[in-house]
This record gives sequence, structure tokens and C-alpha cells, in this order.
Amino acid sequence: MLALDRVPRPLARAVAAIREEVLLAWVAPERRHALTVALFDRQATYAPGGNTFNGGLFDWERELLAHPIVPRSGRILLGGAGGGREIVALRDLGYEVVAFEPAASLARAGADAFSDVHGGSLVHASYEDFVRAVRGERNALSNVVTSPFDALMLGWGSISHVMEDGDRSDILRAMRSAAPNAPLLLSFDEPTVLEKPGGVLDRTRRVLRRLFALARAPGRVREGDRFVSWAGFFRESSAADIKALARDAGYQVAFIGVKPGRAILVNVAP
Ligand SMILES: C[S@@+](CC[C@H](N)C(=O)[O-])C[C@H]1O[C@@H](n2cnc3c(N)ncnc32)[C@H](O)[C@@H]1O
Repeated sequence: MLALDRVPRPLARAVAAIREEVLLAWVAPERRHALTVALFDRQATYAPGGNTFNGGLFDWERELLAHPIVPRSGRILLGGAGGGREIVALRDLGYEVVAFEPAASLARAGADAFSDVHGGSLVHASYEDFVRAVRGERNALSNVVTSPFDALMLGWGSISHVMEDGDRSDILRAMRSAAPNAPLLLSFDEPTVLEKPGGVLDRTRRVLRRLFALARAPGRVREGDRFVSWAGFFRESSAADIKALARDAGYQVAFIGVKPGRAILVNVAP
């Protein structure tokens, strides 16, 4: 009977691995964002009253905010805010928070919760909208990008969902140009070992990748590209990747830590 308990786990792992390979290959890269956001939109845990929301800041987030380079008060711009978990905590610490989030239900739930509370606002928008607003497009963030900020924060893991280095770099450059003197706080998903190298699942993944490539699947799959059903598409990054990204976007690393991956960046030439 105890042995039977172990049957579903490998099966579930196999299903998840095959689903991951199928979606990475067959959802065209330009459609990944929409699916990721649709999946987050169903995650009540991030909305006001949900478990993640109620958990408040993680210890590592408190430590990042306590870094001497981060201002103790002022205005913070927060991207990838979910339903506003960080907004509540930042507001309680004394910051004024302007936040945005691309999942419509989360943004709406958070906006309703914060509409009458001084010190926090949440707009329905993505990092891509932010970049376009900085470049002059009129959108939901047009007024946000022209207002001053003392610190910038990319909400928990949110930059991991931007899978291309060039797009990540565009976002950081836009952040730097909108608030050149503001330190930028971010967190990232680190590389994981998915399966035993050379094991059945590892080999299955490789066969699927070759087959899908031969069948001209639209998605190019690299090590570190991931899909999970509760968080959609994301790309894992090492500390070295984040340092390279910072350099490329005109930032230098004031602090970087792993497990979990997190960093504070400052403008090279404010
Ligand atoms: C792990 S959740 C964290 C939510 C919230 N920061 C929290 O900690 O409760 C990651 C968030 O990133 C958002 N996200 C994904 N892609 C994004 C993008 N391109 N622009 C902005 N946010 C994005 C998701 O919609 C999701 O709300």
C-alpha cells in the first residue's frame, strides 16, 4: 500500500514535464505573455484576502528594503504587483506606492482595495506598457512615467516572466530613464535541476524538443525556459545573468543574493 502512494508522483512529474515541453514549443513566443497573465488572473492567492497576499513581505524583501542604499520613505514604483501584497506592506512602512499589474482581475481587486486608502494605487498594465509609455505612447502608465520616484521595485519574480534578454533590458532601461536616481529592487527565479540528467524524463524532454523542432514548432526552447501551470512561462536566471542584464541596461549591482535570487541595482551614471 505504501508503495502505491509513490505511483502518482512520478506520473504527475511525467505529465508536468510533457505539458511543459508541449507548451514551450507550441505556444508562439508572442502569445506566451497572454497565457501567463491569464493563469495569474485565476490565482486568488495573490488577490486581497488570499494566502500569499495575507502573508505580507518575505524576510528577504524586508532585508532588501533595509539596505542602506534604499530610501526609508518616499514614492516607490512597483511593477508586477499581483493583487497588491507588497503595496500593503510598503504603505505600512511609510512609502507612497504606485503599482501596476497586467492580470486584469488581480489589478481590479487590488485597485478596489486601495482606491480609498492614501498611499497606494494599482493600475492595470504590464512592463511592456511601461516601456511604451516611456517611449511616448499614450497608455495607462503615461502619467506614471512622468512622475518622480525614489525607488523602483519589480514585484516578486515578475521579471522572470519576461523571457527575452532584449525585452528585460528594455524594461530596465525604461525604468532607469524614468527614475535615474532611484535604486531598483528585483527578484529572479534561479536555475533548477529538473530531473536526473540522463534519466527517463530528461531523455523524454530531449526527444520531444528534437521532434518539435523538426515539426517546426514556433517556440525555440533554451535551458532555463520553463512553464508551470500555476505561474505560466518564465525564464530562470543565474546571478551572472542578472549582473550582465544590469550592465547592459546601464545599472551596476549594489547587492545581489541567491536562494532566493534578489538584487538591488543603481544607475551607473545618474
Ligand atoms: C509571483 S506573482 C507575484 C505577484 C505579487 N508581486 C506578489 O508578490 O504577490 C508574479 C506577477 O508578475 C506579473 N507579470 C507577469 N508578466 C508580467 C509582465 N510582462 N509585466 C508586468 N507584470 C508581469 C504576473 O501577472 C504576476 O502578478
